[in-house]
Amino acid sequence: MPIIAKGLKGIIANTTSLSDVRGAEGILVYAGYNIDELIGKVSYEEVVHLLWYGELPTAVQLVQLHEELANQRELPQGVLNFILSAPRDANPMDVIRTGVSMLGLYDHEPSGNQNQAELLRANRHRALSITAKVGVIAAYYHRARQGKDLPPIDKNLTEAEHFLYLLNGEMPTKEAAETLDVAYVLHADHGMNASTFSARVTIATLTDLYSAITSAIGTLKGPLHGGANEAVIYMLQEIGDESRVDDWVNNALEQKKKIMGIGHAVYQTLDPRAPHLRTMAITLCERLGETKWIRIAERISLLMKEKKGLNANVDFYSAIVYYALGLPTDMFTPIFSIARTAGWTAHVLEQLSDNNLYRPLSEYVGPVEGKKVIPISQR
Ligand code: COA
Repeated sequence: MPIIAKGLKGIIANTTSLSDVRGAEGILVYAGYNIDELIGKVSYEEVVHLLWYGELPTAVQLVQLHEELANQRELPQGVLNFILSAPRDANPMDVIRTGVSMLGLYDHEPSGNQNQAELLRANRHRALSITAKVGVIAAYYHRARQGKDLPPIDKNLTEAEHFLYLLNGEMPTKEAAETLDVAYVLHADHGMNASTFSARVTIATLTDLYSAITSAIGTLKGPLHGGANEAVIYMLQEIGDESRVDDWVNNALEQKKKIMGIGHAVYQTLDPRAPHLRTMAITLCERLGETKWIRIAERISLLMKEKKGLNANVDFYSAIVYYALGLPTDMFTPIFSIARTAGWTAHVLEQLSDNNLYRPLSEYVGPVEGKKVIPISQR
C-alpha cells in the first residue's frame, strides 16, 4: 500500500552533510557547528566556506575566498541593461530571479562533455559567481527603480557591507554591517526547505546551476516561505498600536488566518534562529528610540504561544531587524535569498556529487478510466 505524504511532509528525500534541522529539540547545526556556537564568532564568508568545503576556513583561505567573491561581483552588461530597464514597480524577487537566469547566458564555459573534476571546478566557479552577484542584482535594482546611480563595485568590502553600500550609495555603519552579517549567517542554510528542495530537484535532472538557483529563488518568494518576513511588517503596520494587538489576533484566528512569522513546518519548539534576531531587534529598536514595533511583536508572539502553542520563527524578528536598519520592506526576501544562495549552491554541488533524479508518485483521484471520446462537433 503506497504511503501518501502530501507535500512530502516527514519524508526524508536525501542525505546531507550541510545542515541538520532538529525540529523536536529546536536545534540547527551547520556541518557540525550548532548555530549558537557560530553566532558572534564567525562571519558570513566563513559560513560560506564551511558549507562549500565542509570546514571553517583558515585565515589564508578566508582572504582567498573573500577575494574570489569580490572578483565576481561585476555584472555582465546585458544584466545591467536589464536591471536599468526593468519596470520600476517590479517585485525585486522577480528581478533577482530573472537576473540570475540571465547570468547563465553569459557563462561561456562548456557545461557538458567534461570529466568529473573539470565539471566540479566549473560548478564551484558558478556557485561563487552567483553567490557574489545576487546581492549586487538586488541592490542595483533598488537604486535603478528610484532613478539613482549604480555605485561602482568595491572589492574591499565584506558581502554584508557591500550590499548595504550598493543599496544606500554610502558606507554602512559598523553596527548595520555586523547586524546584517549575523542575519546572513542565520539564513545561510536550513536542511531540505522548500527552495533548497526545488534547487535539488532541478539540478538532479543534470541541468545547469543557473536553472537550479532560479527555481530556488522563485520558490523562496512565496509568503509561506521567505516572503513571510515582508508580510510580518505589513501585519505590524496594519495593527498599528499595541492596544489593538489582542483584538486583531483574536479576529485573525477566528477567521482561520495564518499569522505571519509564527509557526514552523519543522520546529515543534523554538526556532533557534529567532532568539538571536529577537535580541538584535530589541537592541536596534531601543537604540532608535522606537520600541513600538517590537512591543507589538512581543505581544503577538506571547498571544500565539498562549493560544496556539506556536512560537515566532526566523521571519518574525528578522523583519523587525531589517525594518530597524531602514531597509525597504520589499528587500527583506531578497536579503534572505542573498544569504541562502550559499546554502542552495552547496546543496546543488552536494546533489551533483551523488546524483539521483527526484521522481515521486502521485495518487490518481480523477474520473475512472473508460471514458470514450465524443466527436468535437457533438460535445
Ligand atoms: N497562524 C495561525 N495558526 C497557525 C499558524 C499561524 N502562523 N501556523 C500554524 N498554525 C496552526 C495550523 O493551522 C494548525 O492548526 P489546526 O491544528 O487547527 O489545523 C496548527 O497551527 C499546527 O500547524 P503546523 O502543522 O504546526 O504547521 P504547518 O506545518 O501546517 O505550517 C507554516 C507551517 C510555516 C506553513 C505555518 O506555520 C505558517 O503558515 N506560518 C506563517 C507563515 C510563516 O511565517 N512562514 C515562514 C516559516 S519560517
